Amino acid sequence: MFIRVHLWLMIRVVSALTPPEGAAIIPAMKILLTGATGFIGRRVARLLAARGFELRCLVRPGSDRTPLAGVEYEPAEGDLTDAKSLEAAVDGCPTVVHLAAQTSPVPAGRLAAVNVEGSRTLARLAAKAKAERFIYLSVLGKPRPWAAAARSKLAGELAVREALPATVFRSAPAFGPGDHLACPLLARLRRGWFVSTFTGQGTWKTQPIWADDLAECLAAAAAGGRAEGGARELAGPEVITVIDFWDELARALGVARVRVHVPETVLRLGGFGLARALGRADYLRLAEFFICQTAAENNHAPVLLGRPLTTVREGVARMLGTAGAAPDGGRKEGQGSARP
Ligand SMILES: NC(=O)c1ccc[n+]([C@@H]2O[C@H](COP(=O)([O-])OP(=O)(O)OC[C@H]3O[C@@H](n4cnc5c(N)ncnc54)[C@H](OP(=O)(O)O)[C@@H]3O)[C@@H](O)[C@H]2O)c1
Repeated sequence: MFIRVHLWLMIRVVSALTPPEGAAIIPAMKILLTGATGFIGRRVARLLAARGFELRCLVRPGSDRTPLAGVEYEPAEGDLTDAKSLEAAVDGCPTVVHLAAQTSPVPAGRLAAVNVEGSRTLARLAAKAKAERFIYLSVLGKPRPWAAAARSKLAGELAVREALPATVFRSAPAFGPGDHLACPLLARLRRGWFVSTFTGQGTWKTQPIWADDLAECLAAAAAGGRAEGGARELAGPEVITVIDFWDELARALGVARVRVHVPETVLRLGGFGLARALGRADYLRLAEFFICQTAAENNHAPVLLGRPLTTVREGVARMLGTAGAAPDGGRKEGQGSARP
């Protein structure tokens, strides 16, 4: 009798702990994601929501939220320059994934306010709210003195690390549908001009990472993967020159172009000013890619990903082969999140 009651009790306990068939085990952790509407953020949001995390996204009041269509999330309206909105956003979130940034070249004051001071405020508030994990996505390489946007990201990294023990990832340039890199280059190459301008000599080393791979790394880290504290590099599987990248795009499109190299000094003497005056943020972003070393010394992406990284050739083939979708993800050239 005693054994029968004991068995019955055990079965009841086990069945109470086992979720019904088909039901997912929902992680209870709440994650605040900033920059969720952006090129990387929308991918991270989708992955985290699919994994069952309770997701809160910091979105600016006027943000285009269509990139988040179909993603289950709680919007937290706010702005990195508005501390009150950040305080409300971090409340109750043990994990913060901070991707929001002014990525287009805008006046230095605006870059400092958003990327440096905004990140500092968010990190301080997260520390005050006792957040357990704060992930910051920074840039890989040593940006040139004129690359103000990238430099402000590194200054933001310092500000965050002063506020709390953050997990920092420094990423190589990411490419994929909707990017600020391959899409504008593909558009230029497609235009069919015989000649294509190229910034610098094209010999800088880079290690482009497929955007979905980068998002997976960040989602794994946010989900409590193996990354904890410190700064780690994330990059693609191949070290190539920036000219190799350009060649790969031309090869995939099957176009032959004569490259005209515009020396960096010419740009510094007037080219950047002209691009700014003409509102060519796309040109300035590309210049930051073409004249900067962005190869990793110790790539952490394979550890987080646990599978082979996507090569440039595979990624570009996917971009060009996406059935029914524009390889630019529906974005106009140079558009991105350029609004201040
Ligand atoms: N893409 C890369 O190759 C790469 C490489 C290394 C590091 N990163 C870093 O990764 C992060 C995401 O890059 P991304 O390419 O996805 O950039 P992105 O497409 O330009 O997205 C930027 C995001 O930040 C938001 N944002 C901008 N200003 C804001 C403000 N004042 N307050 C709140 N949100 C604001 C934007 O919101 P709206 O939709 O309202 O504009 C958007 O969601 C950035 O920190 C970037 O520096 C990117």
